[in-house]
Amino acid sequence: MANRILLVGGGGREDAVARKIVESGSILYSALKNENPSILNLSREHLICDELDYRRIAGFAVEKGVDLAFIGPDPVLETQLVDLLDSKGIKVASPSREAAKIETSKAYMRRLVSEHRIDGNIFSELFHELGDVEKFLNSENRDFAIKPVGLTGGKGVKVMGEHLGNKAEALAYAAEVLNRDGQVLLEERIKGEEFSLQVFTDGKTVLPAPLAQDYKRAYENDLGPNTGGMGSITDCDGLLPFISRSTYEKALNSMKQTIAAMASENTPFRGIMYGQFMDTENGPKIIEINARFADPESLNILSLFRGNFTDVLFSIAEGNLKTGANFIKKATTLKYVVPVGYGTVSKPGILRIDGNIETDHLKLYYAAVSGTMTEVRMSGSRALALVGIADTIPDASDIVENSLSHIKGEYSLRHDIGTAAMIGRKMEKLRKA
Ligand code: AMP
Ligand code: GLY
Repeated sequence: MANRILLVGGGGREDAVARKIVESGSILYSALKNENPSILNLSREHLICDELDYRRIAGFAVEKGVDLAFIGPDPVLETQLVDLLDSKGIKVASPSREAAKIETSKAYMRRLVSEHRIDGNIFSELFHELGDVEKFLNSENRDFAIKPVGLTGGKGVKVMGEHLGNKAEALAYAAEVLNRDGQVLLEERIKGEEFSLQVFTDGKTVLPAPLAQDYKRAYENDLGPNTGGMGSITDCDGLLPFISRSTYEKALNSMKQTIAAMASENTPFRGIMYGQFMDTENGPKIIEINARFADPESLNILSLFRGNFTDVLFSIAEGNLKTGANFIKKATTLKYVVPVGYGTVSKPGILRIDGNIETDHLKLYYAAVSGTMTEVRMSGSRALALVGIADTIPDASDIVENSLSHIKGEYSLRHDIGTAAMIGRKMEKLRKA
């Protein structure tokens, strides 16, 4: 009998996961807040709900007799959903609430990484009093990143020298965070190319996906406010043109050390772990460790995944993950279609999509939208992800650009992602360094 899988979340990441679950012959049940037409089409049954309503979602899972659950969004990992499903005997390929702390508490992450002397750590300090932040900043001549400890949807971090012009602005932002949360994390500011490394793990075995780079800024040439991510790239060799194999190996090692450290503290991590790194002149450094697939980067790697995805989910949940899932050796470029004003004040409208534009070289995923496959209503957030698949990143970018005539309506999109000009600029920077 086919397996019944529950998927929580209704964005582009979950559409990509939903397709892999159905392609591998399983029956999909989904719990999501928006009427994502692609996920709804793929689901045998769905529950439109507040994704944080863990009791309702667990009730749905039990009622439908699901065999395994997989969680997309990070805020859901902070609820008791996974622990409740576990207690009801439902297998879960996502971390427990305690293990998800690697993402939901940056203080936990830095404590773990520092106590276990994991490679790639950077200086950080947690503060509870504004006076202490002030004393500290006055005693230092370096720049810091000012971070809330908890989840912020990728929009809560401010960096001195980037978003914060001087110490007074840094202190004002630290005060804002302290007033709200009672704590604030300061991290030394580091510089270099950022990259994302997503791995599958059952808590022991670690299966890495190709490296990806995410473009967070709202406007072309990496200008404007940070967003959830406007697009992302992967390359055919699993590295990036400007990230070396040795950097990749070091970053992967940091993740393996983190997974081993969590197991040694009796908080084993199972699911997808996504490390965000910066390739500095002193090697790759950990910016964040997340407890789930990245969005957009998961759409790149899931577009390349070949094999039985449901089997991988079961082996994560059951602790018998084998190495050997395969990613085809192609490059991908993803560009998100977003509402005009996304990143500041979104003006969501309607998008029309002509016919079936998908080919072997182009995937169209539905994100925070409701409606039908050919006409969607945008929310304030990302709407459609177009993923080009080719031998090179710029060719994959061209495939996306050539598909845009099929999308009608008012929207924004970063045309620069994955272009030869963008990759060339990054290579030039590397040569000069
Ligand atoms: P996060 O939400 O932690 O991923 O941070 C958002 C962005 O802030 C990252 O993608 C980086 O560009 C930047 N950032 C975070 N931490 C640091 C740091 N310690 N030094 C420099 N930039 C950082
Ligand atoms: N790529 C950004 C995120 O998933 O947090």
